[in-house]
Amino acid sequence: MATKISKRKGILLAGGTGSRLLPSSLGTCKQLMPVYDKPLIYYSLSVLLLAGLRDILLIATPDDLPRFQALLGDGSQFGAAFSYAAQEHPRGIPEALLIGADFIAGGPVALALGDNIFFGAGLSARLRDAANRTEGATTFAYQVSDPHRYGVVEFDDDWQAISIEEKPAQPKSNFAITGLYFYDHHAVEIARTLTPSARGELEITDLNRIYLERGQLFVKPLGRGSAWMDAGSEQSLLDAANYVAAIERRQGLRIGCLEEIVWRQGWIDDAQLRRSGEKMKASGYGRYLLDLVASRAPA
Ligand code: DAU
Repeated sequence: MATKISKRKGILLAGGTGSRLLPSSLGTCKQLMPVYDKPLIYYSLSVLLLAGLRDILLIATPDDLPRFQALLGDGSQFGAAFSYAAQEHPRGIPEALLIGADFIAGGPVALALGDNIFFGAGLSARLRDAANRTEGATTFAYQVSDPHRYGVVEFDDDWQAISIEEKPAQPKSNFAITGLYFYDHHAVEIARTLTPSARGELEITDLNRIYLERGQLFVKPLGRGSAWMDAGSEQSLLDAANYVAAIERRQGLRIGCLEEIVWRQGWIDDAQLRRSGEKMKASGYGRYLLDLVASRAPA
């Protein structure tokens, strides 16, 4: 049975300078770099697709946009609709909501950072729950050993969020807020009220704090059986690639395989999956797609 397509729009933010990856990021951008068998952007895009979001706006620098368009096209090969917009300068994550205001068109939206990787049992169901919530903001928290590098959430004894701070020197917990945010139809209007922080950027944590103050921020902890990585440095890119390689080789299943996700959701049929596999059959990724179709073919 086909997975329900959500009316919620999706935004994938893939801008930024990639300065921590110089010189590798001189000729391409971070989100197009490979993480083992596929570009980094596939992982965050896969999360939006798994959440049932079909209408997706990708935001990148003006230089990089044509590269993303060449990679992902109009989305029809995924049974989806992709559009593109430029962010001239990295003025902060919430700017994605302002750039995408017309696209969002007053409805709910999910915003994903193009350098985040999520994996784990039960993830799809949690994503769909977040996508189906009509009011407030839903984000996910993950326990890390270096919380001062992230937005940090503090919980009370009932796992209700009571504070959030961006990159605090003295973190109140070890729970980082991950780069995936589901907002109701108020997000754009709230983003318009934000002003730049001391580091000169609009902060997503300020937007989330406004939801928190309204009693409408829902922060779902991802358990220790889940994986969350942000692949923004040379070491974290390598760690992510090693992690993906270890799991994929062990299971014979691919993580973040866009064609497989939409095929299993019934958004593309066997013939479309086979076409994508044929185009890429020189790679293990392409042969994996062909094997998937064959596995469903009558004996
Ligand atoms: O990864 C999760 C973290 O992402 C959250 O815990 C933090 O609360 C949130 O502020 C953010 O922290 P980062 O330090 O990772 O933010 P960074 O500025 O590195 O931006 C994250 C990604 O978004 C990065 O790949 C570049 C892209 N980006 C960033 C900005 C500020 C843009 O495309 N445009 C922008 O204007």
